Amino acid sequence: MTPNNEQSNGHDRENQSVVNNPDYIYLSPLASLPKRFGKRFELDGGVEIALFQVDGNVYAVNNVCPHQKFSILYEGEREEHTITCPMHGWKFDIRSGKCLEGGNAELRTYPVLVEEGNIYIKRPEPDVPKWME
Ligand code: FES
Repeated sequence: MTPNNEQSNGHDRENQSVVNNPDYIYLSPLASLPKRFGKRFELDGGVEIALFQVDGNVYAVNNVCPHQKFSILYEGEREEHTITCPMHGWKFDIRSGKCLEGGNAELRTYPVLVEEGNIYIKRPEPDVPKWME
């Protein structure tokens, strides 16, 4: 198993398989990801994920653009580690979620692992609205 992005949770999982780990959810074979755009997944609880691959590394971000809340980022064109929202052109770094152009809201990112050619995402914590914190 190879930690596959910078958002790895940092735990030493070298000797553990992610396949039966309840903290991770199977998403897709790596080979099924498009090269230039992303792929959309909806997790239990309605969390929408946009997966992207760059040179064999996989990155997961929330699919909802923080600008006007359109669920469309997986359709954004990718250039290196930057995706552009197809609605109004905000640009985001898929490694950090940082907005690079258009605004200052960040995308949520998620730890992803690839094992034996399959992609797994760490089960996200439920989103808690700011007003409930
Ligand atoms: S909804 Fe994404 S830039 Fe406006």
